[in-house]
Amino acid sequence: MSQRRVAKVVTAHRQLEGGGFSVRRPFPTQGLDMVDPFLMLDEMGPVEYAPGKAVGAPDHPHRGFETVTYVLKGDVVHEDSHGGGGTIGPGDVQWMTAGSGIVHSEMPSETLQREGGWMHGFQIWVNLPASKKMSAPRYQGLSRDEIPSATSEDGLATVRVIAGSALGVDAAIDTHIPITYQHWSLKGGASLDQPVPTDHNAFAYVFDGTAEVGESRRLVTSGQVAFFGPGDVVRIGAAEGSTAEVLLLSGKPIREPVARYGPFVMNTRDEIIQAFEDYQTGKMGNIERS
Ligand code: CO
Repeated sequence: MSQRRVAKVVTAHRQLEGGGFSVRRPFPTQGLDMVDPFLMLDEMGPVEYAPGKAVGAPDHPHRGFETVTYVLKGDVVHEDSHGGGGTIGPGDVQWMTAGSGIVHSEMPSETLQREGGWMHGFQIWVNLPASKKMSAPRYQGLSRDEIPSATSEDGLATVRVIAGSALGVDAAIDTHIPITYQHWSLKGGASLDQPVPTDHNAFAYVFDGTAEVGESRRLVTSGQVAFFGPGDVVRIGAAEGSTAEVLLLSGKPIREPVARYGPFVMNTRDEIIQAFEDYQTGKMGNIERS
């Protein structure tokens, strides 16, 4: 067993995206394009919207990768050009493979728009290898109760397993490439060694409290992401008197050229131009609304 050390810690600052969307985005940033195979990690909120102020992302296309939405508070109503849809509520996950192309909208529910309220969640973008970029779009929606969870024997750590496995529990979601996506809730004194495949890039994002991560139990606080070096085990925990909420992510790097523009992520610039053309000529479809 070899413990992964913390190679680097990066602090994400709160920023406003288009339309007044409050996010913390550890990457992409000017200094860090991506963490292969992850293209983006966004924490949406937490933000309390006043009545009429909740914002979302109306109809827009994607091609060549996957978007994964995990909601903790509030909701996101999803509609897409392949007839996928539903409300992603607290604790729910939506794993959407854009593949060859999809048009979707991600909006707060009418109730949240009208009455206001809290919104908090995450969206990550997972790249696809060239061989899968043009695969059929796929939508996997899991409600809170369908996401496997487990608690450590000492009761100090609870994990929700969105992808991969932890504490003897396997995820219910099927991924195109090997991915770990876990939400750990840690009480003071929690400490455990989570296996992570040696050929994965791995990092931990702390979004509440303060965690202790890596071999040296480095303190990582809310808004910080710790990137791990090589090894096959990641240590995560929380000091006595602290608590921490942590996303642990890992994935097998794709190691292919990345051509990225707005909502499209391909291998070459020509493929990006083709994606715009296919979107503009309606080949990614439209959202049917009655
Ligand atoms: Co989108």
